[in-house]
Amino acid sequence: MNPTDKTMDKIIALCKNRGFIFPGSEIYGGLANTWDYGPLGARLKNNVKDTWRKRFIQERHNSYEVDADILMNPRVWEASGHVASFSDPLLDCKECKMRHRADNLIDDFDPNAHADGMTKEEMFEFIKAHSIPCPHCGKHNFTGIREFNLMFATERGVTEGKKTTIYLRPENAQGEYVNFLNVQRTMRAKLPFSIGQIGKAFRNEITPGNFTFRTIEFEQMEFQTFCKEGTDTDLYEYFKEYGRKYYEDLGIAPDHLRYHDHEKLAHYAKAACDIEFLFPTLGWGEINGTHNRTDFDLTRHQEYSGQKMDYLDPVTNEKFIPYIIESTYGLDRTVLALLCEAYDEEVVDAEKGDVRVVLHLSPVVAPYKAAVLPLSKKLSEGAMAIRDQLSKYFMTDFDETGSIGKRYRRQDEVGTPFCITYDFESETDGCVTVRDRDTMEQVRMPIADLASYIEDRIKF
Ligand code: GAP
Repeated sequence: MNPTDKTMDKIIALCKNRGFIFPGSEIYGGLANTWDYGPLGARLKNNVKDTWRKRFIQERHNSYEVDADILMNPRVWEASGHVASFSDPLLDCKECKMRHRADNLIDDFDPNAHADGMTKEEMFEFIKAHSIPCPHCGKHNFTGIREFNLMFATERGVTEGKKTTIYLRPENAQGEYVNFLNVQRTMRAKLPFSIGQIGKAFRNEITPGNFTFRTIEFEQMEFQTFCKEGTDTDLYEYFKEYGRKYYEDLGIAPDHLRYHDHEKLAHYAKAACDIEFLFPTLGWGEINGTHNRTDFDLTRHQEYSGQKMDYLDPVTNEKFIPYIIESTYGLDRTVLALLCEAYDEEVVDAEKGDVRVVLHLSPVVAPYKAAVLPLSKKLSEGAMAIRDQLSKYFMTDFDETGSIGKRYRRQDEVGTPFCITYDFESETDGCVTVRDRDTMEQVRMPIADLASYIEDRIKF
């Protein structure tokens, strides 16, 4: 399809109508920037998690997964710097009272301005000098810029006045850092080794979300590699490339991915780079970040916890605090990128104006791997037996309503790579027809070969 015809509105509509993603608590009018994954969305998301686990934990040497708690000792967030400086520069429109992020106002006004390299004062001057209007009411009358902390705070404790403020974690990374010693000791891990984790993170984002691109609750797949200083630069480059290859293997075209090296680095970081995806309507947006965090995190945790974070090199007997190379993947943004990449409107018959909507999802992540479709309701029993047999290996749908053509189209729309048609001959010859979603070609094969035929095509 023509790339300009692919819009975020079409993708949001498909997600909502086909059971991928619904607005959060919709029957109550929703809650801004929250979304619920439906049956197909949850399946897709879990399939992406499985690919990440395979590529980052299972296939790598010295790589360990943890599942740390969302709630952590609040000192963690003091050590990490989040209490002091995890904030957005916000300003209010004095006319309509809408609140905006100063950097977003600037970047939307001039994409070449690079607000991420500006101080708060420079941002304020830029907005003033260009009389940037409020996107809501169009007037230019703003308050000064203030920093708002993005962490969600809550309270723990039963006695009023003796409650402690604790936070919903704004990133997974600290769960990996505080377990550095535990994992190293129990796994007898030697540098370089990695700790990964998939889990929820929470940020009090005030900006409009652009669907699941920016939400207040989201999932990250984070991967921290502990290494010796001196080996960090090579590992950093390696994980940038590893991430890009991961996305390409998930089916994203190379020209829809690009690196964005950060100009302005956090004071502790030696290098930082995002992988961006070209979203329809939204443009380029970050889906992954790779960061050389030096020995900052473990040094801070040593300082705040009083626990030694040293690693003893078994060869040289040297003791030192390891460097960390972080590669972090936004799960929801990865899912959104895959849906956007896969969405297509294909002309099947130009004369008849016949266009099909199809998700060319990689079979690896597709919610259903196959759908069994009996040609007639009289054939349902035999077809259901195939569905039950295949579902022992992978997610298999069953659909017996509507014409066979309509049923193919329904499966195309949700990205099912194989449709299996069970017809009257199947009852006697033990064979079925398998239709390929992308080529629409059909092959006839014995029912006994189905599972291995499909399994061969859904490997990652
Ligand atoms: N531990 C490092 C860290 O959290 P980050 O760049 O702030 O780094 C990592 O976040 C990834 O999490 C991003 O690349 C993005 O994919 C995802 N992410 C961040 N904020 C998000 C939000 N509000 N909604 C959805 N995904 C988000």
